[in-house]
Amino acid sequence: MLRAIDENTITDAAIEQMASTPDPRLKRIMASLVKNLHNWAREADLTPEEWLEGIRFLTAVGQKCTAFRQEFILLSDTLGFSSLINALHDKRATEAGTKSSLVGPFYRADSPPMKLGDTIVTKPSNGMEVILYGRVTDRMGKGIPNASVEVWQPDETGNYDLQKHDPSEMDLRGHFRTDSEGRYYLRTVAPLGYMIPMDGPVGDMIRAQKRHGYRPAHIHFIVGAPGYREVVTALYLEGDAHVDSDTVFGVTESLVTKVNQKDPNSPIPNLPSIKFDFHLAAATAKDMTGRVGADPSQITKAGA
Ligand code: BEZ
Ligand code: FE
Repeated sequence: MLRAIDENTITDAAIEQMASTPDPRLKRIMASLVKNLHNWAREADLTPEEWLEGIRFLTAVGQKCTAFRQEFILLSDTLGFSSLINALHDKRATEAGTKSSLVGPFYRADSPPMKLGDTIVTKPSNGMEVILYGRVTDRMGKGIPNASVEVWQPDETGNYDLQKHDPSEMDLRGHFRTDSEGRYYLRTVAPLGYMIPMDGPVGDMIRAQKRHGYRPAHIHFIVGAPGYREVVTALYLEGDAHVDSDTVFGVTESLVTKVNQKDPNSPIPNLPSIKFDFHLAAATAKDMTGRVGADPSQITKAGA
């Protein structure tokens, strides 16, 4: 018998038709998506014009994506969705480790390998030089030798190299390895907070919502070692005006650090420094990446 489709029965009808999906995980994700998407339309009493506006918006988000720009990641970030996925990822760990934060749209997979103590500043800079140092340890505080420490950040004006739209312009990025006791240290400049890219549909959304659009000053890291869960995170600078109102919800208290003007334990004590120890949880068989995001050029390539 033909099913009567109305604003309530449509949900079960769609889920039942998708029940033939052989992959159980895909089946569960799609059934839950349909259920919640339908609930959203019912709850907001969405009109055809409003949904068409939504479709226009999502189309514009896709059209804004290039090898240098990932508007969908920006959308996920500004909706708090990336932070939610990070929190779910952290909860799945069997041991506590450093908390995750956002990859954001400015990660590049091909940052240059560097030696401990090197500077990641490759262009003339007026920024305040700082030392970043600390250890990568396991849950018990034991240093992890040869751990990978990838770092990237904006400059002292709040701009990333990727915003210059030239892949040969690599600056303020590097890939380090910890020493035999799990220590890392490098030189850089203190970053400035910045406004997220506002020249696309996500910027239109932020303006329509009267949000300020700023991220507090931060430095990104991806830290990993064989046998441990990779941590994708960022360190935020105490005192930034937007540290408690980040547009993309990346700040957690444990990730807020301060610049010490004089730290006798720093490898270069006469320079300002930031000390942070990263703690990695043991990997489990089910562990997958914690990266909510990717190098934008790899995402466009995968879809090409
Ligand atoms: C970033 O930290 O690079 C970032 C994250 C989310 C949106 C925009 C930028
Ligand atoms: Fe950033």
